[in-house]
Amino acid sequence: MNTMQSSVPFDSDPKLMEQLLAVIERHKDEQGALIPILQEAQDIYGYLPIEVQEVIADKMNVPLEKIYGIVTFYSFFNLYPKGKYQISICLGTACYVKGSQKVLDKVTEVLGIQPGQCTHDRLFSIDTCRCVGACGLAPIMLVNDDVYGRMNPLEVEGILAKYK
Ligand code: FES
Repeated sequence: MNTMQSSVPFDSDPKLMEQLLAVIERHKDEQGALIPILQEAQDIYGYLPIEVQEVIADKMNVPLEKIYGIVTFYSFFNLYPKGKYQISICLGTACYVKGSQKVLDKVTEVLGIQPGQCTHDRLFSIDTCRCVGACGLAPIMLVNDDVYGRMNPLEVEGILAKYK
């Protein structure tokens, strides 16, 4: 089960857990309750950590694997929280041909996480995106609303250091 564990520490605030249990209680007798429960659980926690999936599996009396299967099937569910700084690398055609994959590789190397994941300190998360309409500046990297154009992998470390 190691692959299912998040490297981000779980927020064990009892108030959040109380809200989660109330959501489960409210939906549990409905047909197809798992999706709405997971959606509301994600609203509470911002993502669906394995600890939350375990509570839902236990209370709904379904195998954890079933919950995990649903969470990983639908792209609107997140296994990891978003970082304070959300990095997004454009993999649209124009950016890709100009080497955005190499920029992405460098970001994952520097931060030690993969796209979709968040660093342990919740400072950075990485995602990829499709064309953001700035192809003339390809390849593009976004950090929240900051746009970095004509990115060179060698610039990645310096740019990320500005946000630390
Ligand atoms: S393909 Fe990246 S901005 Fe258009």
